[in-house]
Amino acid sequence: MVLVTGGCGYVGSHTVVELLQEGESVLVVDDLSNASKKSLERVRQITGKEVCFEQVDLKDAKALGKVFDKYCGKKAGDKIDTVIHFAAFKAVGESVKKPLEYYQNNTIGVINLLFCMQKHAIKNFVFSSSATVYGVPERCPIEETAGRSALSPYGATKIITEDILLDIAKADKDFSAILLRYFNPVGAHKSGLIGENPKGIPNNLMPYITGAAIGKLPPLKVFGGDYPTMDGTCVRDYIHIVDLAKGHIAALKKVRQQKGAVAYNLGTGKGLTVLQIIQAFEKSTGVSLPYTIVERREGDATECYASTTKAEQELAWKASLGVEDMCKDHYDWQVKNPNGYND
Ligand code: WQD
Repeated sequence: MVLVTGGCGYVGSHTVVELLQEGESVLVVDDLSNASKKSLERVRQITGKEVCFEQVDLKDAKALGKVFDKYCGKKAGDKIDTVIHFAAFKAVGESVKKPLEYYQNNTIGVINLLFCMQKHAIKNFVFSSSATVYGVPERCPIEETAGRSALSPYGATKIITEDILLDIAKADKDFSAILLRYFNPVGAHKSGLIGENPKGIPNNLMPYITGAAIGKLPPLKVFGGDYPTMDGTCVRDYIHIVDLAKGHIAALKKVRQQKGAVAYNLGTGKGLTVLQIIQAFEKSTGVSLPYTIVERREGDATECYASTTKAEQELAWKASLGVEDMCKDHYDWQVKNPNGYND
């Protein structure tokens, strides 16, 4: 059995679909603070398979311990052998305003989780890290050996967790951890049944584009048109959420057959500007997208895209879906679910 924390979320729910379709049994642990349990109903609809669910806040060590006792105890049938950890607060701007909540939720939460794993001798851990650990990249494509620096408390919590995993792997030679550094996840499952469900006004580009395209949000503002790039707008490595989810299946296979803590980029290796995303969106959906170019957003790097060689060679994984699939699938989810899971 695979325990998936934050399995009701955007990346989590897409990964649970792939796990079930690979024949894995899955337990989702989620406090539902930033996700809807409806996503699991949709996962069941897509796969026709059952998912175990426990609503638990990782900060509640006692309640979390009871869940592990229930699923790892002597009476438990299919025991947990791997944890895939998504559950964390993830809004960069919010983390700057509320650092303590971010350190408490993201860092205390993962420490409680790792103590439970230690108690039950669970040795395999796949961690949802982020390209944000690279700070403002010195050069692109970014290799996994590039320096790390936190641009926000959110980024700091990702670096701290990576370091905790590296230290555990040094102390326990049987411990196995795969750290997945996501670039920019976008898109949705082809069914349009699961997708990104941001609270309030989305900070990220694609959910803002699709919200504006259905008339739910004011026209898009492009943050900065004077960067030293081909068209003056920032370059990012957008990756389809289904490719990203499949990257977790590759990581699951790897984490079960290796020891130590190893980081991998999950990106396409292809950088696209904001204007190129807008053009791809209009082309793939037929929806025109008015926008205005305004001043730069503080903290944005000019460009950020992945070197994908290590993941291709060691995980035998490579993203395959293109930017038009990303735009069309994200839009289809948005049209079918104008208010996310709150419909
Ligand atoms: C992409 C580009 C914006 C909104 C963030 C997090 C990162 C990771 C992925 C968690 C930038 C521009 C955006 C808008 C715009 N999340 N933009 N108008 O900042 O690359 O990465 O999400 O791990 O940690 O930092 O993604 O989608 O916010 O921005 O012009 O309304 O789109 O300036 O150039 P980002 P983003």
